[in-house]
Amino acid sequence: MDCMVIQGGRRLAGEVRISGAKNTALPILASTLLSKGTCALLNMPDVRDVLTMSKVLTHLGAGIEVHGDRYTVTLAGVASCQAPYELVKTMRASVLVLGPLLARWGEAIVALPGGCAIGARPINLHLAALEKMGAEIHIEHGNVHACIRGRLKGARIYFDVPTVTGTENVMMAACLAEGTTVLENAAREPEVSDLASFLIKRGARVSGVGTDVITIDGVPELHGADHEIVPDRVETGTYLIAGAITGGEVRVVRCRPDHCDALLAKLQEAGVALKVEKEAIQVRANGQPRAVDVKTLPYPGFPTDMQAQMMALMALARGSSVITETVFESRFLHVLELQRMGADIRIEGNHAVVTGVGRLSGAPVMASDLRASACLILAGLAAEGETRVSRVYHLDRGYERLDAKLTGLGAQVRREAERV
Ligand code: EPZ
Repeated sequence: MDCMVIQGGRRLAGEVRISGAKNTALPILASTLLSKGTCALLNMPDVRDVLTMSKVLTHLGAGIEVHGDRYTVTLAGVASCQAPYELVKTMRASVLVLGPLLARWGEAIVALPGGCAIGARPINLHLAALEKMGAEIHIEHGNVHACIRGRLKGARIYFDVPTVTGTENVMMAACLAEGTTVLENAAREPEVSDLASFLIKRGARVSGVGTDVITIDGVPELHGADHEIVPDRVETGTYLIAGAITGGEVRVVRCRPDHCDALLAKLQEAGVALKVEKEAIQVRANGQPRAVDVKTLPYPGFPTDMQAQMMALMALARGSSVITETVFESRFLHVLELQRMGADIRIEGNHAVVTGVGRLSGAPVMASDLRASACLILAGLAAEGETRVSRVYHLDRGYERLDAKLTGLGAQVRREAERV
């Protein structure tokens, strides 16, 4: 296992290019199972989760050619309808093959994704919706076994919570169902919208995307299409905070500022100087940031995937902030590690009370999940001395070449094999 070694205290400056969004690339890859033929996907991020999803698709019978950030996926038919546990356990988003396999091939066997560091992560809403559309679903030996004779039937589905992958899974299945499916309390994340725009290019009939009511009129089949993955809004936010937390000036390019409204509003409230253009954002620290309260919510609220990174910034803010996590039940594992670096944080239920300190000190810390890893890297960039973040395999799941991109901004970051 590798660790990331950061010498803190250097102001970041320069330009960084944002990669394609991991959380769009994954459902879009899974959706290629909905039709025979070829799909060309551009601006694909070079991250481990995309490689894992590619392995799942290959296992199911897809042919995938990769040239740089271009993935050409060809499907003549499926060799198997089973997504194996050894792959699913490494990436819960593998559950996204469930809807497409069921809708196009009539059967799907997907290992139940276990929980993870940030919460139980059930998929009950995915399964209930597919059952309502006529699927027979049973769970045995740790697998979800779903099947349907003939086509799924359109239905009106209400999601108790606006689940992102639940909306994506059922929207994909509904594309080939008989009749109309209405998803109520659907997720509004840009990743859902990007998937929908790809499905529509392939002949799907989807409306209401970006709202909490999505209507899908089923069609007999879809065809292949080309698509460029949207830039990653979480990677964008991570580099904005890297510029702010180091007192530097960073220009983030090839991004979608319109997908980052909640974060930009909070950074401005904290006194960070931002210059927003069509596909770029310039961030400049303006002295010590002001403490601001943050509450994570489904899109367009403040993204839970930016909670840990914002906490790193607030650990060095003037005053106290209350950070409330409403989406996942245990997404504060980074707090214990930040405390090792001198942060003053008190957890009260799903609130973290963060009182800014004058400085953080570098220390050996351990990553627990993808975004917690990013938080610790950001804290290390600002801390005095050396920070060693271990278990950075978490980071590699969702950040493309993070060490190279940070080095390009003047950070002193290197990757090395973990000392045992
Ligand atoms: C997606 O996860 C993202 N992953 C997550 O990003 C992100 O944090 C999350 O959405 C919220 O925005 C991908 O898109 C691959 P949810 P997902 O279903 O779909 C509960 C990252 O760091 N729920 O929207 O799994 C669930 O427990 C990752 O890139 C049910 O109860 O999240 C949670 O409390 C982390 N039953 C809430 O809904 C269900 O059937 C939101 O979960 C489904 C979800």
